[in-house]
Amino acid sequence: MSNPKITGYGDDLTVDGIRIGDLSPHDHENIEKEKGGQNYNPLENVVVSHVKDSSTLICRKPSVDGVAAYVEEELIDGLCCYSAVNQGQLNQEIVDAVTHHLNNEKLPTVPRSIRHKYMGAFLLASTSITGMDKVVPKVSGVESWELTFKLCRRWGYQVKQIPKNQCIIVGAKGNFHGRTVAAVSMSDDPDSRDDFGPFLPGIELVPYNDIDALESLFKAKGDRIAAYLVEPIQGEAGVIVPDPDYWPKVEKLCKEYNILLAMDEVQTGFGRTGANFAYQLFNVKPDIIGCGKAAGGGILPVSFVAGKKEIIDTLTPGSEGSTFGGYPLAAVVGVYAIKTLVDLKLADNAKVRGGQLMNYFNDIKSEFPDKIKETRGKGLLTAFEMFDEKYLDGHKVSVELLNEGVYAKETHHSTVRIAPALTIKSWQIDNMAEKLRKVIKLL
Ligand SMILES: Cc1ncc(COP(=O)(O)O)c(C=O)c1O
Repeated sequence: MSNPKITGYGDDLTVDGIRIGDLSPHDHENIEKEKGGQNYNPLENVVVSHVKDSSTLICRKPSVDGVAAYVEEELIDGLCCYSAVNQGQLNQEIVDAVTHHLNNEKLPTVPRSIRHKYMGAFLLASTSITGMDKVVPKVSGVESWELTFKLCRRWGYQVKQIPKNQCIIVGAKGNFHGRTVAAVSMSDDPDSRDDFGPFLPGIELVPYNDIDALESLFKAKGDRIAAYLVEPIQGEAGVIVPDPDYWPKVEKLCKEYNILLAMDEVQTGFGRTGANFAYQLFNVKPDIIGCGKAAGGGILPVSFVAGKKEIIDTLTPGSEGSTFGGYPLAAVVGVYAIKTLVDLKLADNAKVRGGQLMNYFNDIKSEFPDKIKETRGKGLLTAFEMFDEKYLDGHKVSVELLNEGVYAKETHHSTVRIAPALTIKSWQIDNMAEKLRKVIKLL
């Protein structure tokens, strides 16, 4: 144990004599392997350095002649931090709001036990954009999901009058809601669950997009079920879009059995799918939603739960809270994340550019019918699935795309998701699609 000596900014940032700007991609990998938990498997031989424009990153790759520590190259950001950067990297209006409020407005950091003047603005903007009665701020995406889960249980006991400790929350198979114990209790992914048990009771899973399975469960246990808590489009599962009549049927069933329809819009919200929130694509209105990722404009982790008054009002002082949930900077960033979503018409752009990208996907599928099995997507949440063959490997595609200057990542062995910033330009989509075509051709 020692007191590390830390100086400088950017490449001059130096910790105990090690200057960041002197490290090769290999050095970075070694430090991460030696000093960090191995819970990610990052793309090899590349380190992101800084932003060039809203959809382009500058990254460092090993120098081929070995003279320099690295060479810098452009990388189209085809993932935008798993849809956290819908507003584009370093969105200028959000950056200006942050720097202005810190430098000029002298923004304090205070918890929720004392009021601050920006909370009102955040609540006004977030209830307005969601069309919900009330909002509770949190920090990460999984926290918004977990608070939604807790609120559904509370509503189940206090409003629906489910007997104590008998409440059931229904989820969908293949879901992804994050990494807390509650979220992995609902997961059916062995990688997320192995040796993290025992898990939370009171959870049942149904196959996604199967209305009959849901109805059978509601018939059997509906008096104990508080909510169906689910993604409107499954993101991590590989962009699974349900049948057009699924959500209207689910909504009807939920009403019939007095069960809440609770949606996790952490990945699908904030314009990603071509509507401000994905449920709007299906003409339904959930009772409660959880938002995160782009709710912080790609700058700060900001999340929130938005719902009907009778659900949110089950919260009482002391029953919930979070030190940084809704603190002044998060409130300001949250307001500006919504302002840019509206002013830049991000949902409309996602619809148009998403259509353009899907056309390319479909062209590539027609050109290589033995390689691409299916293309899926709404707005700029898109994916293509390859046939289950050894040589059609999602990770290989990600690596080859990286060599071509596109950052994308497989969600499963054979599925690659592409979800760029919603500010992406037409020519950048053309560019990305051409590189994709080249990579698929060479597989
Ligand atoms: C649908 C959904 N819910 C929740 C989460 C968790 O968000 P976070 O990683 O910010 O906790 C994610 C993350 O990918 C997600 O896709």
